[in-house]
Amino acid sequence: MTRPKTKDKQQTTKILGIETTCDETSAAVVQDGRIVLSDIIASQAELHKKYGGIVPEVASRKHLEILPAVVEEALKSANTKINEISAIAVAKEPGLPPALSVGYAYASGLASGNNLPLVEVNHLEAHITGIWLVRKGGIVKEIQYPFICLSVSGGHTSLTLITDKENFRIIGNTVDDAAGEAFDKTARMLGLGYPGGPIIDKLAREGDETKYYFPRPMIKDESYNFSFSGLKTAVQRLVAELEKQNEQHRNNSSLHAELKNNWTADVAASFQEAVVDVLIEKTIRAAEDLGVNTITMAGGVSANTRLRDKMGRACLDMGYELFYPEIEFCLDNAAMIAGRGYELYKK
Ligand code: KG4
Ligand code: ZN
Repeated sequence: MTRPKTKDKQQTTKILGIETTCDETSAAVVQDGRIVLSDIIASQAELHKKYGGIVPEVASRKHLEILPAVVEEALKSANTKINEISAIAVAKEPGLPPALSVGYAYASGLASGNNLPLVEVNHLEAHITGIWLVRKGGIVKEIQYPFICLSVSGGHTSLTLITDKENFRIIGNTVDDAAGEAFDKTARMLGLGYPGGPIIDKLAREGDETKYYFPRPMIKDESYNFSFSGLKTAVQRLVAELEKQNEQHRNNSSLHAELKNNWTADVAASFQEAVVDVLIEKTIRAAEDLGVNTITMAGGVSANTRLRDKMGRACLDMGYELFYPEIEFCLDNAAMIAGRGYELYKK
């Protein structure tokens, strides 16, 4: 009896991605631009907590110290040797310059030492590519071009029209703070710690989002731009007022703490609602104006449960398809760098 012929094993392309734009030191191996074989992320959040935000020089020193071990771990957990890698992709911009240069210098040394091409990746385009990423065995999403992407993170807030793999046209941007930055600053005002986004997200579930009304900056403005600094000031004013009211109960420490706990969750929920409303209204208007049927979201803030939920309902009501990354690929990670690196490498 003759054995049935087995199909030739299909050639796959593995890209090693390196990400050091901010406070995550990350390396990943991604197959064919979509399948994540490993994604090692060493977060420096603990290190920066005491400063209430990221200190670029502290971040770059930490990247320098741990990046070689993070890359080694990424290759090891992907069960891949460096000679099985087709190219190295590195985040080039935007990001904190001292942090970026550590990743870039390391990646270019590794590429030239192993005779591999080095692909420079734009961090924002990588976030968008992150929407497709899946772990081995996962189902890769079919997303039709053109689509709009709302990119929301600690460093940027923008609306981009993507017409194909090559064309990313930014149609709106924040004119001051980024959405994630507003979350982080509000959390700091409320004494909640850093990074503020996930903490506010969780706390807001216990709060009443209708308790306080915050402005929805630029919501009716014709442009697709955003502004969050006025909202931050409004929160600051309200918090100062509530603190003052609470002061009269200073002698009764348990009542003082209870009152503070009560209003903190309501302020968090009301603030989050204002941000979410602006993001949704502007994104849907852009899709309507440009005649695009598919909406996507990316970046750290796209992990927000209220945003996912409310945007999901709005898209369903209005007949738009909505896609966003798996939670683990929303925040900065090297898998998205490798994913975008693959597209550029193929080009
Ligand atoms: O994409 P990212 O990791 O880094 C940048 O490129 O900036 O985003 C980090 C930002 C932080 O501001 C963080 O507070 C925010 O994303 N973030 C969230 C949530 N998770 C992270 N904001 C709101 N809700 C969340 N669940
Ligand atoms: Zn980012």
